Amino acid sequence: MAFDFDLIQKHYSQLPERVAAARKLLGRPLTLTEKILYSHLWDGKATTIFERGKSYVDFAPDRVAMQDATAQMALLQFMQAGRAKVAVPSTVHCDHLIQAKENSTVDLNRAVQESKEVYDFLASVSNKYGIGFWKPGAGIIHQVVLENYAFPGGMMIGTDSHTVNAGGLGMVAIGVGGADACDVMAGLPWELKFPKLIGVKLTGKLSGWTAPKDVILKVAGILTVKGGTGAIVEYFGEGATSMSCTGKGTICNMGAEIGATTSTFGYDESMSRYLTATNRADIAAAADLVKEHLTGDAEVYAEPEKYFDQVIEINLSELEPHLNGPFTPDLATPISKMKEEAVKNGWPLKVEVGLIGSCTNSSYEDISRAESLAKQVAAKKLKTKAEFTITPGSELVRYTIEKDGFLKTFDQIGAKVFANACGPCIGMWDRVGADKQEKNTIVHSFNRNFAKRADGNPNTYAFVGSPEIVTALAIAGDLGFNPLTDTLTNEDGEQVKLDAPTGYELPPKGFDVDDPGYQAPAEDGSSVTVAVSPDSNRLQLLEPFPAWEGTDLKGLKLLIKAKGKCTTDHISMAGPWLKFRGHLDNISNNMLIGAVNFYNEKTDKIKNQLTGEYGPVPATQRAYKAAGIGSIVVGDENYGEGSSREHAAMEPRHLGVRAVLVKSFARIHETNLKKQGMLALTFANKEDYDKIQEDDTIDINGLTSFEAGKPLEIVLHHSNGTSETILVNHTYNDQQISWFKEGAALNIIRKQFA
Ligand code: F3S
Repeated sequence: MAFDFDLIQKHYSQLPERVAAARKLLGRPLTLTEKILYSHLWDGKATTIFERGKSYVDFAPDRVAMQDATAQMALLQFMQAGRAKVAVPSTVHCDHLIQAKENSTVDLNRAVQESKEVYDFLASVSNKYGIGFWKPGAGIIHQVVLENYAFPGGMMIGTDSHTVNAGGLGMVAIGVGGADACDVMAGLPWELKFPKLIGVKLTGKLSGWTAPKDVILKVAGILTVKGGTGAIVEYFGEGATSMSCTGKGTICNMGAEIGATTSTFGYDESMSRYLTATNRADIAAAADLVKEHLTGDAEVYAEPEKYFDQVIEINLSELEPHLNGPFTPDLATPISKMKEEAVKNGWPLKVEVGLIGSCTNSSYEDISRAESLAKQVAAKKLKTKAEFTITPGSELVRYTIEKDGFLKTFDQIGAKVFANACGPCIGMWDRVGADKQEKNTIVHSFNRNFAKRADGNPNTYAFVGSPEIVTALAIAGDLGFNPLTDTLTNEDGEQVKLDAPTGYELPPKGFDVDDPGYQAPAEDGSSVTVAVSPDSNRLQLLEPFPAWEGTDLKGLKLLIKAKGKCTTDHISMAGPWLKFRGHLDNISNNMLIGAVNFYNEKTDKIKNQLTGEYGPVPATQRAYKAAGIGSIVVGDENYGEGSSREHAAMEPRHLGVRAVLVKSFARIHETNLKKQGMLALTFANKEDYDKIQEDDTIDINGLTSFEAGKPLEIVLHHSNGTSETILVNHTYNDQQISWFKEGAALNIIRKQFA
């Protein structure tokens, strides 16, 4: 079930009717985004008009994709659902755990040894439950998805924020947490707040040094890292159709950097060409038959202001190459202004390393255009001043660029080819000397450039550019070099200018690959056993959480009253804890260690009410658990904002916290808590936060008549013998109340398949 043409055909056969129903309901022409969303409603045909930015809607995504770091918990949870197979086509991609150090072969072999048990686990779960498995070295999730699974008009979710890359092939593809992936694989609807719509009209045509990357670098400069929040960005216009499909992928990929829910493009000939080149001419032919439903209505694009919440127009003929950074992807500087800006801001001018590739920019077109510059090094008697690295996005691309001689050219300029994996893009770059934390500049064609992201050095100034600009700057070794106007001094002392890059949208002799790295699942996986060693410290099979005991909760201890910002990073830190993502008990040792204790303003230092001593949060909670005492976490505003990681809800549940009571929740975290069978409560009066005292013992009353819309009551027993009663609200509906009663949403799903 890794790929199913029949499902795509079925979707296309229903599309005309579904789009017509939505158009009739809304009584106006539709954007592409609306067509995709309304044709993926969980209930089928559109009968309700959803309010953008307000309505929560249940959708039925076509696919799920997971990368190896996030797949672990998603699949451990899925295993509890009791299904024999995933409900929708799903894939796992091993790309995040491979460190870039020496070269692809050495690095890949080391990763396979180091993460063997994780890979074996992912492979065996995939085999058992009908999930396509892409081995380490096969490529980066988003490139592999674009090459194999994305299809125009489809909807997918993926456990990685750059899932949005598939918008390049006309999808609505959205990054989610593992719990959402688990739900969809288990056959449940997927809920999303109906997004706002941003239209980007592209006029003109790219030429010379300007690349698709410059479009999104420019958009990021306009919208900033927050400008796309809660919105889907839809690109249209002659500039959009004149661009390659993979170029569109690059633009959608970096939509994550403006906070957009996702980005997409209407179906056009570039997509048809790409589908055909990647062995999917059948999908292109099927898409051609319904192509008017795979793009926005003409009236929408003629008067976009009437249909989008915001419209931006960019003329590609006038667009200049950009470099964005340092430390943030929205600090956009046109290449002609870079020198001036760098000098003014004290950014180191010497470029130490140029890095191309990653899921954002490793298409055949990207690499061929970069190679056309690398070729000029020898031809113009130049020397490449900076180090240069390539991380191909997939084995399909790597094999083809090797066969077509590009890797040889790069080799001649001293390039290092890393494994087809995330590597330096996610801090998995063992860069020599990074530990000295020297101030230095790198340029890369990835998407993110926050401090420490590439090499762990907070003083590495990383600038994001197109592969072409990165290559030119690596040759020059100078951040202030403008290849459009400046010359370089060659070995003969002559001034030479680099010619503008040229390349191929698709390989002229076709894509080729020996072993793409794909492992199809067993037809019948019922006899497959999932490999998890009981002694493993990285993986642990999950036990179902216990059902509610049927009584009010009495005698809970206050675990921590968190002060101020408490994001999912404060609740479940990343960094060194990443390796325990598949081991709930081990990763629970990071529970709330970043939260600030209201009473002493310290992190990870709270009072153990049983001993009176202060200690770490996880250890204190484990002491309560050992004593059979439940606890409660109290928090401030927007508790649980940040990533959607489900560990932030699973850890407290696992360690015996019974309720989280806050002034307000970030919605995804609130839902995650509900899914895990926790009580997510808010103060009816926010001032009651001040009534919570460090030594409080707490009762939660009203659970025996727990119902939607009815507040619960909390009694605070203070250590001086007094007590106070406060009201707390909740947003549980009937179904969510059943999750609480059964112990977790998954416990209910499991019963359905028992
Ligand atoms: Fe990997 Fe970086 Fe893309 S971490 S998935 S290459 S954004």
